[in-house]
Amino acid sequence: MSVSVKDVAALAQVSVGTVSNVLNRPERVSAATVQRVQRAIDELGFVRNDAARQLRAGHSRSIGLAVLDVRNPFFTDLARGAEQQAAEKDLSVLLGNSDNDVSREARYLDLFEEQRVQGVLITPVGDITARLARLRSRGIPVVLVDRPSDGGELSSVAVDDVGGGCLAARHLLDTGRRRIAFVGGPPSIRQVSDRHEGARRAVAETAEATLEVIETAGLTVLEGRAAGEQLRGRPIGQRPDAVFAANDLLAVGVLQALMILGSISVPDDVAIIGYDDIDFASAAVVPLSSIRQPSEAIGRQAVDLLLQEIDGREAPKQVTFQPELIVRRSTRDSSTPRSSNTT
Ligand code: RIB
Repeated sequence: MSVSVKDVAALAQVSVGTVSNVLNRPERVSAATVQRVQRAIDELGFVRNDAARQLRAGHSRSIGLAVLDVRNPFFTDLARGAEQQAAEKDLSVLLGNSDNDVSREARYLDLFEEQRVQGVLITPVGDITARLARLRSRGIPVVLVDRPSDGGELSSVAVDDVGGGCLAARHLLDTGRRRIAFVGGPPSIRQVSDRHEGARRAVAETAEATLEVIETAGLTVLEGRAAGEQLRGRPIGQRPDAVFAANDLLAVGVLQALMILGSISVPDDVAIIGYDDIDFASAAVVPLSSIRQPSEAIGRQAVDLLLQEIDGREAPKQVTFQPELIVRRSTRDSSTPRSSNTT
């Protein structure tokens, strides 16, 4: 038999209203009464039933966060930042992994609505503009995460991925590389296509530089391994002298295939740069250069924008962080200056 608020009130010899105040507005109750009620809660093992509160308030004390791939530390770091910011407002985060799958993503959006979340943060898989507009029309604010909102109708927090792609390719070109391979996919993922576009622009500015694309089915270590094995299988004269991987997981896979499975030296034969600057990048057998995204800050900022909309304080706002080049051994050569952000 579950313990009710009435049982707690009886044991603490206070009214049910006082117990409710202790639970929801403790600042309105004397410290002695809070202590007495808390003792009764602990003694009876009372656990509040949020369903009743949700019915009254019309929403839960949580926000939904749907990310593309929870195996990717970029998204778990982002979720950590979001959770820290949400916790400051006594909100929890319901984390959903769309796994780059539109039907899973749709199921999570339904679940968030059923759970009466106060708002939704999402890195969309497909084009869900209409679905997100319906959410907002039902009073559930939405913030795009790690993705710009082109029309400006939604708040968004992202990094300038075109600029990040340009930064990565320009670094490879500055270290003397001229035959660059962009490893990433599918191109339907906006982050991938933007990074590729940035690299394309940088290469186009450099005479005799070339950029080829090795498209992958996903952004994982295994996909990177497969791309690296494909490169390793080529005659030496047909191999690139540098790889720009669309994220660090791919870069780790390419590194494994070239170095551990093959006899190719990184960076002497092939330089490699990734994207995100997750912990695995600096910890790799050859520390990986990368384009750093402030993943936790993206999560915190996204929650901030959501709370502003929940409170009706602000119109949709787009926040864009700038990417940062982190140079490590996987791209360094004698001509690469050891800058302050070299590790
Ligand atoms: O999930 C796709 C990629 O986009 C991640 O690695 C991260 O870079 C995100 O921006």
